[in-house]
Amino acid sequence: MAISRSLDVNGKTVAIKIDDPDMPLLYALRDNLGLHGPRFGCGLGQCGACTVHVDGQPVRSCVTPLSSLAAGRRIVTLEGLGGTGKLHPVQQAFIDEQAVQCGYCINGMIMESAAFLARNKRPSDADIKTALANNLCRCGTHVRILRAVKRAIARVREAAMTYAPSRRDLLKGGGALMVGFSLIEPLGAALAQAAAAKPVGLDQVDSFLAIDAKGMVTVYSGKVDLGTGVRTALAQMIATSSTSRWPG
Ligand code: FES
Ligand code: FES
Repeated sequence: MAISRSLDVNGKTVAIKIDDPDMPLLYALRDNLGLHGPRFGCGLGQCGACTVHVDGQPVRSCVTPLSSLAAGRRIVTLEGLGGTGKLHPVQQAFIDEQAVQCGYCINGMIMESAAFLARNKRPSDADIKTALANNLCRCGTHVRILRAVKRAIARVREAAMTYAPSRRDLLKGGGALMVGFSLIEPLGAALAQAAAAKPVGLDQVDSFLAIDAKGMVTVYSGKVDLGTGVRTALAQMIATSSTSRWPG
C-alpha cells in the first residue's frame, strides 16, 4: 500500500508517495523531485556519489530507504547547500580550484566536505584526507580536491576576519541601536542577543537612539545632554553612529 512521507528538502516541505518501502531516498530526490546533484554511483553505500545531508549529517542516499526517515527530517542536497542564489564556500572553492574531471564524485566530495567543515573548522591535511577517505574518485582528482577544501577553509576564515558589521547592521536585527549607553545586562549578553536577531529591550539597554528592523530611526532626546545646539547634535549622532553620510 502506498504511503506518503512529508520531508523538508532544501527548505521546502514536500510530500512523496512511496509504493515500495525500500525505495531509496536517492530515487525520490532524483526521480520525484528532479534534484540531480546527488549521483547514482555504486548503489551500495560505498562510493559516496549520492551523499546528501540529513539533519546536517552526511548520508548515503542510495542505501537510505525513504520510509526510514521520520516526517519533517531536514534534507539538503547540493542544490540547496549554499542557500538561495549563492554558493556554499566549498562549492565556490571547487570551482576556483577547478577540482573536477568527469565530475561524478564531486557531489559527494562537496557534501561530505561541507558537513566535515561544519564540525571541524581547523582541520589538518590528514584530517581532511581521513574525512574524504570513503569518497571515491575514479579520475584521480584528489590533489585538487584537497586544495579546494583547504581553499574553502581559508575563505571562511577570511570572511570571519573581515566581517565588521556597523553598529547599524548589528543592532538593526535586534531592534535597537545603542549610541551611548549604560547597561543593566552585560554588554556581551546584549550584543549576543542583538546578533541573534532578538529584540534588545530598552529595559536592558539604556539606549537613546534606536533603529528598528525597517530602518526607522528614533532618538530618545530625554537622554541627550550636550548643551546648546541639541538639534544639530542629534543629527550628528545619527550620522556618526550609523552608516549614514553626514553632509558637508
Ligand atoms: S551511489 Fe551511494 S554510495 Fe555509491
Ligand atoms: S572527478 Fe571523476 S570520479 Fe572524481
